[in-house]
Amino acid sequence: MPHPVIAEGNVAVVTGGASGIGLAAATAFARAGMKVCIADVDETRLAEAATRLSSIAGAAQVMTSVTDVSRVDSVTELERAVGAHFGGTDLLMNNAGIQPGSTLFEEPDSWQRIIGVNMWGIINVARIFAPNMIARGRPGLIVNTGSKQGITTPPGDPAYNVSKAGVKAFTEALQHELRNTKGCHVTAHLLIPGFVFTGLTAKGRTEKPDSAWTPEQTVDFMIARLEAGDFYILCPDNDVPRALDEKRMLWAAGDIVENRPPLSRWHPDYAEAFANFVNED
Ligand SMILES: NC(=O)c1ccc[n+]([C@@H]2O[C@H](COP(=O)([O-])OP(=O)(O)OC[C@H]3O[C@@H](n4cnc5c(N)ncnc54)[C@H](O)[C@@H]3O)[C@@H](O)[C@H]2O)c1
Repeated sequence: MPHPVIAEGNVAVVTGGASGIGLAAATAFARAGMKVCIADVDETRLAEAATRLSSIAGAAQVMTSVTDVSRVDSVTELERAVGAHFGGTDLLMNNAGIQPGSTLFEEPDSWQRIIGVNMWGIINVARIFAPNMIARGRPGLIVNTGSKQGITTPPGDPAYNVSKAGVKAFTEALQHELRNTKGCHVTAHLLIPGFVFTGLTAKGRTEKPDSAWTPEQTVDFMIARLEAGDFYILCPDNDVPRALDEKRMLWAAGDIVENRPPLSRWHPDYAEAFANFVNED
């Protein structure tokens, strides 16, 4: 059964919609007959993406907006423009993100920018769009793109992990609030991609590594899990099956319960215990 919100004539807004997972989602929504607004900071890629979407849906069904999700004024203008152009939003895919890399004690501007886009961006967009989506009284979807790195917080990119841990906590609170709001037919969902070959992860590669999924695979999986009603849309990839993700997440939570050091998965004293935990049934 197709999801009732992903339906002809409904309106989808996709942030970070000019490339990668966002563009694949916008393409799938356009194919389903939705009106689509893609919002992105990259004006050139937005224009290219709009041409591609218009060839599927017709130019009248496609809107673009140069938006910086880290700025409240920019997101406020986006929400106003979508309302004026399409009459409101049925599906919000809150997806814009960056991963330039980070270290703990250097580059304070980079920490501000990563948390500004990845965490504040998600919060700004959801807080500015959700009230009018609820007020429409129609079924609606808000999908926030998080990351496994916000759950298992591996060493190597702390600012990204912090930003995505914030996205997880915010989206859980958002869904709790929506569920407890009388007359609200909007639900929130956390998309947790695996390794997906996009501009964010390409790092100079032009060929998709075997271990990665394509953005299109990720979006097909996301739509199937939205239809199934999942809140946590936990995507596998060609390297990591769901069962391994489950073990990694349980181990991370176990650091607190078992009173182990943080990130014990990467601590030499726990290497054997972690390997045994992963291998046991
Ligand atoms: N690719 C992966 O393996 C992977 C894994 C986990 C999570 N994610 C998340 O998926 C989301 C999409 O990333 P992607 O992999 O498709 O990368 P991508 O680089 O292809 O797409 C991200 C888009 O966001 C846009 N963007 C960046 N800053 C912005 C801002 N301030 N305002 C508006 N738009 C902005 C970029 O211009 C780009 O078009 C991100 O939130 C990313 O953290 C990706």
